[in-house]
This record gives sequence, structure tokens and C-alpha cells, in this order.
Amino acid sequence: MSDLRVQPGPAPERVRLTVPGDKSISHRALILGALAEGTTTICGLLQGEDVLHTAEALRRMGVEIVIESGGEGPMVTVTGVGRQGLHSPGCPLYLGNSGTGMRLLMGVIAGQDFTATLTGDESLERRPMGRVAEPLMQMGAFVECRGPQATPPVTVHGGGLRGIHYQSPVASAQVKSAILLAGINAAGETVVAEPARSRDHTERMLQAGGAQVEVEGLTVRLQGEPTLRGQEITVPGDFSSAAFFLVAGCLLPGTAVMVDNVLLNPTRTGLLEALRHMGADLKLTDVTHSAGEPVGTITATRAPLRAAEVGGKLIPAMIDEVPLLALAATQAQGETVIREAAELRVKESDRLTTTATALSALGGEVEATEDGLVITGPTPLHAAEIDSHTDHRIAMMAAIAALLAAGETVIHGAEYIATSFPGFGERLRELGAEVT
Ligand code: S3P
Repeated sequence: MSDLRVQPGPAPERVRLTVPGDKSISHRALILGALAEGTTTICGLLQGEDVLHTAEALRRMGVEIVIESGGEGPMVTVTGVGRQGLHSPGCPLYLGNSGTGMRLLMGVIAGQDFTATLTGDESLERRPMGRVAEPLMQMGAFVECRGPQATPPVTVHGGGLRGIHYQSPVASAQVKSAILLAGINAAGETVVAEPARSRDHTERMLQAGGAQVEVEGLTVRLQGEPTLRGQEITVPGDFSSAAFFLVAGCLLPGTAVMVDNVLLNPTRTGLLEALRHMGADLKLTDVTHSAGEPVGTITATRAPLRAAEVGGKLIPAMIDEVPLLALAATQAQGETVIREAAELRVKESDRLTTTATALSALGGEVEATEDGLVITGPTPLHAAEIDSHTDHRIAMMAAIAALLAAGETVIHGAEYIATSFPGFGERLRELGAEVT
């Protein structure tokens, strides 16, 4: 287990940075590249452990993936094998900490004519897979979740799929994407409806690759057995990674933080809406489009924050940023209530509990409820010892909180940061912090 030690220091007036490529788009670019006919080139792929596990799993199923470091970041070439061209890996596929990698690949393998087993680390082995296994079984695959309570290891016996109409009980892009990826190899039409909109990168990338995908309200329709073309994909900076530094900009006195080339897909940027509602000063500039996704620069400057009630449809659009919203709420006037966020209990950790525990240790007044958090602010923060609980986002949220806390905060289990954000510590130093 490794520790990250963070001590605040004098921050410059203006910090301008970029963040690594979007994790969700990176996974999908590799997977759709593998299932395409022809070559896919990916510029700016996230080199985090989660994505590298997906790349390795695809290699074990016969896909050639070459990662070359270039002047402007890594350039990746995926030689597609066609939508049914994968081969049996011959050994279990290890996905590390990555729920996205495991769930999306369950969908992919369901459409292949072989059996494969997927495993993960201690965090992933606690996460529910029945939500994906169930619709895949309805499509005709046989899926065994061999841990207690439908957890990994998961064995997928693929092949012989037919399209289904599935009403998902959860707004989960991982569930939706697993079904759509299986639907590529299913006869007829696959339809997925969800209770609220989750991130839509799979739909966008399938369309760009030549599949017939229609989105109407909360329903996605895919015509089965398309021929997918190789694509040239440029991965924008991950909003979920930028969010750590944007919240720092909202909270640190005298420091404006600018993050360039950030993904601005509206299914991802709910945090901006929630923070603006609380009074935050967040500006968008240089908004353009890259590979079918809106991208731009976001500047965060400190402004007085007031408490807010956050729930409903906004939650799926900020699902990974709720711990950061809770941190911001510790500095806002009044009682912030976050509701309808029970999904956080089944992330890399039980994030309602781990957020409340970490922020309380740092001096916040934060309580976990059954489906959310109640935060009373403002409270001054102080240095503390924090455990990541195998969760990269808890580790990084605590590191940003540490910028407001006098003294040295020690974060145990900081190695998990590498799953999604290589180079996080270096960027933290740009905010004046002493980081070891
Ligand atoms: C992701 C979807 C989200 C998110 C995760 C990445 C994806 O999970 O929490 O970090 O890439 O599809 P759910 O959609 O299952 O909530």
C-alpha cells in the first residue's frame, strides 16, 4: 500500500493545465476498434491501469494493439478483427479495479462463440455483476457470476444471441453499453431504455463506426449485426479528472484554475450545473467539437458558495463527481442535501460511506443517508489520515481537500489513483502543494 502526503503551499494566481484522456471513451475506443473491420487509430488514449487492463484483455483475445508514445501523447493503433473475430483467451481475463472494463467486456464476450472468465482486484470482486448478467442471459448467453451475491469471477458462455427490449432498472452506462455491445452480434434489434440518461459515448461511437443507432428520449435502438468501420478517434481530456482541479479552483482563495481540452458531453457535466446552482464561478471558453464530442476550456475561480439540494436526473450526469460536490458543500453556507444517489454504494468503494468518513476526518460535517449525503457548512478543514478504501476518486478528493487543510494530510492506498489519473500528483504540485 502506498501513501500520498499533501501539504498546502502558496498557490500561483493562475494555474493552467490539461488532464489525461477520458476513461470511458478510452475503453470504448479500444473495444470498438477491436470489433471493427480495419484499423482504428486513437490519439490521447488514457494510459491509466483500468484502460490498460482492457487493452490487455483484448490482446489475449487476439487483437493487435500497439501503443507508441509520440510528441503529443500516446498514439494507439488497433487492428480490428471484425465483430465476431475474437478468439478464446485460454486463461481468465484480469480487469484490475475496472467495473467498466469488466461489464463492457461481458457484453462483448456474450456475442462471441466461446467461453471466458473475468476476474478483478478485491474492490472489483465486491461489485454487482447480476445487473449485466441478467439482460445478457435474456439475449441468449449463459453467464455465471461465481462470487457471493452475483459478484465476480464471472464466466460468460457466448454466442447465439437475439435482440431484446430491455428496461434497465438503473441509469447505468455500463449496463446499457454491455447490452449494446452484445447487441452488435445479436439477430434483430436490441433496445435499451433507462430511467434517466447515463453517459452516451457508446451510442455516439457506434454511430460514428457505421452502426444504425437511434436515440429517442431515454431509449436507444441498435440494429444487430452491423459492419463496423475502423475510426480515427481523438480522446478529449476526462471531465471526471478535470473536476478535481475545478473544485480546487472554486475553493482556493486567490487561484484561478483553467483546464484545457476537457470533454463537455452534457451526460457528464452535471457537476458544473450543481456547482453553478451553489454560486460557483465556472466559465466555458474555446468550445469546439472533436470526434463527435463537445470539448472546451473550463475556468474555475473562487466565489461564495451556498448550500443546495441535488438529486434526480442530475445524479447520473455527475455520478463520479458526487464526492467532490460533497467537498465543495463543506465550504458552502447551509445544509446541502444529495439524494437519489444510492448507486454510489456500489462503486469502487461504498462512496456514500467513504466520502462521509474521509470528509468528517478532515473536519467536515458530513453524514451518509440511505441514498445520499447531508453536508453542513462552512467548516474549516484540518489535516488528517485518510484511507482510499481501494477507491481512486476518494484518494484524489481527499488530496484536493488537503489543499484547504493546514498541516500534512496522509492518504493511504494512494496507488489506486493510477487506475484513472497518471500524473495527478504532479498537477497537484502546480497548485503550490508539497506532494510526496
Ligand atoms: C462508466 C459509467 C459509470 C461511471 C464509471 C464509468 C462508463 O458507471 O461511474 O466510472 O464508462 O460507462 P455506471 O454507468 O454504471 O453508473
